[in-house]
Amino acid sequence: MQLLIRGGRVVDPAQGVDDRLDLLIQDGKILRLGRDLAAPDAQILNAGGLTAAPGLVDIHVHLREPGFEAKETVSTGCAAAARGGVTTLVAMPNTRPAADCPEVVQLVRDKAAPTRINVLPAGAVTLGQKGEQLTDFAALKAAGVPALTDDGVPIQNLALLRRALLEAKRLNLPLLDHCEDRDMVQNYAVNEGAVSRRLGLPGRPAVAEELQIMRDVMLAEDTGAHVHICHISTAKGVDIVRQAKARGVHVTCETCPQYFTLTEDEILRQGTMARVNPPLRTQADVDGIRAGLADGTIDAIVTDHAPHTAGEKSKPLPDAPSGMVGLETSLALALTGLYHTGLLPLARVLALMSASPAALLGLDKGTLAAGRDADLILFDPDQEWIIDKTKFASKGRNTPFHGRTVRGRVKYTISRGTIIYQEG
Ligand code: DOR
Ligand code: ZN
Repeated sequence: MQLLIRGGRVVDPAQGVDDRLDLLIQDGKILRLGRDLAAPDAQILNAGGLTAAPGLVDIHVHLREPGFEAKETVSTGCAAAARGGVTTLVAMPNTRPAADCPEVVQLVRDKAAPTRINVLPAGAVTLGQKGEQLTDFAALKAAGVPALTDDGVPIQNLALLRRALLEAKRLNLPLLDHCEDRDMVQNYAVNEGAVSRRLGLPGRPAVAEELQIMRDVMLAEDTGAHVHICHISTAKGVDIVRQAKARGVHVTCETCPQYFTLTEDEILRQGTMARVNPPLRTQADVDGIRAGLADGTIDAIVTDHAPHTAGEKSKPLPDAPSGMVGLETSLALALTGLYHTGLLPLARVLALMSASPAALLGLDKGTLAAGRDADLILFDPDQEWIIDKTKFASKGRNTPFHGRTVRGRVKYTISRGTIIYQEG
């Protein structure tokens, strides 16, 4: 079985390719990339006017199963991924039960198998994500986890975190850390600042995130482990990572479209739809995140796709859960905010969403090189459209981007040679 993708602009940052080329796929793998390829028996997909790029690799996604199937299931989350152009994703372990043992990891993998999305469950750092006892990292690695994280729950105990890092290093696993000091942020709803004061609510200070980033940097330097900072949201946080990288510390970081697009003011317009952890910050922070993307300090764009039910999000701001969905809007928001504004070239945006996150977790993904899995997207980088949450495949409709005009539309998503999403 051959599939010939003909006449598109192929952008593969990992190979430095950006050219009008044909792409020949056979048995789920990229066979060849070249000009005017002949393949008489192949199924032809006309990609004229479209851009072909590696399938997106989103290393921060909450699929919610097991335990929170009212918010999302592996199946609905993977349908959302396909619609958004995401072919590989890392599923966060804050499920019920938590993915703190091989059985739960295997359960998520089994649920994902029929979807054709490459789902890699991350393993929890501590049992039940309670921050008390380390999980069995070796057993989790044997079960296939690409990384360890207690995402959603900041790790407070430094002795425990240091032991975790030493063990993670021994097993060559990165630790993905949600940085926010728990005592400082409690269950507060918004950034500490002008908006929290206006609403008369206690806020989550930026320094609560920056202190944990600094702490993690120090421990990464001390242990030699790879620490990856989740969803970085403050300008100073980016500065800390920038300085650490310059010293040669093995630290990487990611951010999400909400942090380079929106400020805390969105809370005043959209209430709980804009509630997320870490919170939306100030314009100076948005500028700092954009600078970090531009100079390479930030290694990846992820979604932190965090579906919640309409009922949960209709609670008052202090009681509603934090999080927003992102799988079906990330490419368009990144193109709109970073490429169409002239901040980054197209290839760089695509690298931040595929080759770079794949590389930092050591995944064999994120390129269209011959011999690799044929995971790719065909998209129109310029097409304007209006985000409509009622069209989402995700169960989660909690987005602050509903009604926003964006540019960049996924037309086809192909996973291991099979078309798993086609627009319309
Ligand atoms: O806003 C968030 N929601 N941040 C997190 O870290 C966790 C996530 C969730 O699980 O809902
Ligand atoms: Zn988190």
